[in-house]
Amino acid sequence: MNPSQEILSRIEALRQQINDHNRRYYVYDDPLIPDAEYDRLMRELQSLEAEYPELISPNSPTQRVGDKPLSGFDEVVHQVPMLSLDNAFDDEEMRDFERRIKDRLKLAESEQINYLAEPKLDGLAVSLRYEQGSLVMGATRGDGNRGEDVTSNVRTIKAIPLKLLGEQWPDVLEVRGEVFMPKAGFESLNERARKADEKSFVNPRNAAAGSLRQLDPRITAQRPLTFLAYGFGEVSPEHTELNLSDRINALRSFGIPTSPLMAVTDGIQGCIDYYRQLETERDDLPYDIDGVVFKVDDLALQAQLGFVSRAPRWAVAYKFPAQEELTQVEAIEFQVGRTGAVTPVARLQPVFVGGVTVSNATLHNMDEVRRKDVRVGDTVVVRRAGDVIPEVVSVILEKRSASSQSVDLPERCPVCDSEVVIAEGEAVARCSGGLFCPAQRKEAIKHFASRKAMDIEGLGDKLVEQLVELEMISTPADLYALTLEQLSGLERMAEKSAQNLLDALSKSKQTTLNRFLYGLGIREVGEATAQALAQQFLTLKAIEEADEESLQETPDVGPIVAAHIVSFFRQSHNRVVIDELLQAGIEWPEVARVETAASSLVGKTVVITGTLSRPRDEFKQTLLAHGAKVTGSVSSKTDYLLAGEAAGSKLTKAEKLGVTVLNEAALEALLNQAE
Ligand code: IVH
Repeated sequence: MNPSQEILSRIEALRQQINDHNRRYYVYDDPLIPDAEYDRLMRELQSLEAEYPELISPNSPTQRVGDKPLSGFDEVVHQVPMLSLDNAFDDEEMRDFERRIKDRLKLAESEQINYLAEPKLDGLAVSLRYEQGSLVMGATRGDGNRGEDVTSNVRTIKAIPLKLLGEQWPDVLEVRGEVFMPKAGFESLNERARKADEKSFVNPRNAAAGSLRQLDPRITAQRPLTFLAYGFGEVSPEHTELNLSDRINALRSFGIPTSPLMAVTDGIQGCIDYYRQLETERDDLPYDIDGVVFKVDDLALQAQLGFVSRAPRWAVAYKFPAQEELTQVEAIEFQVGRTGAVTPVARLQPVFVGGVTVSNATLHNMDEVRRKDVRVGDTVVVRRAGDVIPEVVSVILEKRSASSQSVDLPERCPVCDSEVVIAEGEAVARCSGGLFCPAQRKEAIKHFASRKAMDIEGLGDKLVEQLVELEMISTPADLYALTLEQLSGLERMAEKSAQNLLDALSKSKQTTLNRFLYGLGIREVGEATAQALAQQFLTLKAIEEADEESLQETPDVGPIVAAHIVSFFRQSHNRVVIDELLQAGIEWPEVARVETAASSLVGKTVVITGTLSRPRDEFKQTLLAHGAKVTGSVSSKTDYLLAGEAAGSKLTKAEKLGVTVLNEAALEALLNQAE
């Protein structure tokens, strides 16, 4: 069937719209429509072209999906060589650069030269050749004189127009620029590779190079590559502009993306200011840059300056401190954090990277150590970007010694010698000596003293830290041996407050099994689980002796929680501390089993609101002890609202939802009924 005029113009309109959107996105950094809308346009065009294959043109935006694989790349000769740049590493070298230029041009010190400034992108250089406004060739730099023909791959990069905009372009236009991979695209590409158990890329630069030099363009088409132009090869007829910046702006008007950060700076001080400014923005940019390139903007001056060997005299790359360096792993040690997390850390031969000397780098966890296979003695790439903690990026396997050995997780905590465990499905290893381990001391004692645990009034976080630092306590049990003399000797501690604290400690000895259990800080054992365990087992001894199987008979206790409980009580260090606590006189009333059938509160969800005769937490504890769940907000799942004086919006909501509202007396009655 012959396409109607309507179809022809719809196809044309779609192609134009898609190209416009590409341009808005890549050239003007100002997308107009959401991705989903763009995809719809693309799909419409694809289905029309499928229906009328004779209308497919090589420059249609649908043709960026990639041609058939190649067996190798053809060689391309660059008529105008692709040059490299001289580097500068400090302000002095920048001033030297300008001094050489002025000497050569016989300009006085006081005369000003303007420079075009733009980021030095960390990707790979390509040359794009347009003839009569159509892209005919894309080539890599190669050795500068000869590169590889990567046209099929370049055509898949949406930032690169297949046809130039307008009609003002020269007949032959070779554009030079950088193909690179933005950080976000790099991260998601690597994430996908890891999930598929494929090899991930070390950095966005390698990922870009690997993607552009793919023999199968369909793979390149799926890689998040982009492009920014910064220069020219062969141009005929020659441009008429007198400044490089004007020529770059002309490229933009043809629809070719150029750096939005390009600026023309006044003299060398302007360059240095630009560099300092960009350095502060570096980590926030969506792509990696490794410095700033400065070029004499005046093309007549450029021509006078010419080249030395492979680099122009009129340009310089002022490099940022490298964010990646090579160094050696001297040891791999394990650090124990406040919460017991056991983290592998690489001790490194000190190396200057990202502006500081780095001698340690985190290896995150054992999964990461295994994935990267980092070993003692290895030569590794270390990265430090901005304020981020330095990390080991990869190992240079070629430099590994034959006798090296892979690293194992220690079986025992390097700080307290308790067992190290990894919960099922977790990456992080933990020390199970929570109550005793010096690394976890402060957190364990703070938790033990907290309101919902032993509720030791006056023992705040600061005081706990002070007591631990002064070595007056090292476990929760030591709290109960503190004396008035010791406490009143502390800075900013009046005798009165010392006595108050002793009273609070003494008061806390009368507690409940749930509070005590919760206070032990066993991983994943929160208030509700502690309550459920107390109900299930009735005594501490029974819980201590329970195996994983019987623990799992407790409501809400699954295999992971059960494993945490068993490994906690298996540590003799923890048991010693518990014995000491009991010897100090901590006790609780026998736990009364709440019979499921008899109690009207077991499994019920209760919300508490308004002012009651006693603190809310007391009501909460009573409710929990009767098997109820206490939650914060009223919903259709709420069974009861316990409402005190001045109950507000929760009461209104409960009434609206038909939730039973109780006052204190009604609660009392319910509780009696349950016993
Ligand atoms: S200009 C004659 N400008 O740096 C000037 N190069 O070391 C030649 N690069 O191979 C290059 N961003 O891959 C220039 N804004 C920029 C650049 C840039 C990155 C790369 C390019 C080149 C290398 C030179």
